[in-house]
Amino acid sequence: MKKKLSVLDLSEMKKSGKKVVWVTAYDYWTAQFAETADMDMLLVGDSLGMNVYGYETTIPVSMDQCIYHAEAVRRGALNTFVIGDMPFLSYQVNSDEAVRNAGRFFQEARMDAIKLEGGRRVCPQIKAIADAGMLVMGHIGLTPQSSGQFGGFKAQGRTAEAAVELIKDALAVQEAGAFALLVEAVPPEVCKIIRDRLAIPVYSIGAGVDADGQVLIVSDLLGLFQAFTPKFVKKYANLGENTTNALKAYVDDVRSSRFPEPKHSYRMIEGELPKFMAELDKS
Ligand code: KIV
Repeated sequence: MKKKLSVLDLSEMKKSGKKVVWVTAYDYWTAQFAETADMDMLLVGDSLGMNVYGYETTIPVSMDQCIYHAEAVRRGALNTFVIGDMPFLSYQVNSDEAVRNAGRFFQEARMDAIKLEGGRRVCPQIKAIADAGMLVMGHIGLTPQSSGQFGGFKAQGRTAEAAVELIKDALAVQEAGAFALLVEAVPPEVCKIIRDRLAIPVYSIGAGVDADGQVLIVSDLLGLFQAFTPKFVKKYANLGENTTNALKAYVDDVRSSRFPEPKHSYRMIEGELPKFMAELDKS
């Protein structure tokens, strides 16, 4: 049986240079497939807003929605390290709310860790959650919950000044007590420096290969999400097209009476059909 990684394993993997591979999951069966595929970690991302609910951003996602999906993912991947993503306004207001909402992921959905977005400005919340005994991952660079301030989903840290600010954020997040850091959509050189300077694992999404591991959004990787494809995505399947083709074939089969075939039907018990006919004739 697969052994669930611990925070100590993740730290060892950084030291030994073994990459950590993870992906988002929002439901039971994706979690099952990912665990069968030997995924190291899963993230129940607030990207579920766009990938499951069809919102344009992650902003409308609520704590309750995250908890429901986290519960389903946990049931599908009992032996995988699963991270719950703190949605917009579940931690920004103050540290007390942050601790209480982080705690819900552990108590109600049996998550192994939580993740929240932001650098120095959320360090008090990171410290409070870590001080309450919970594993918290930071997330800097393109942080989708503040994408309005960036003017959209745009790469970050592309000027010398912005890159230096990102490094300050990364160090502050580590200092506040985060066990790991996710860096999104920044130039690879910047991510590599962050990875080299931090003692905690540094993971990349769209920040190049020189990180302690990689995460992708499962609907991008599988070719399900249709609205847009970020530059950093590699599609490993085209399930969107496959799904449409399968559904079209079903529509055609039903309309032309090719489905169901005799093999898809239940037969009457031997000898019952003539009796049934006789009963009908009587009535
Ligand atoms: O919500 C999410 O899916 C994320 C990704 C950027 C990994 O945070």
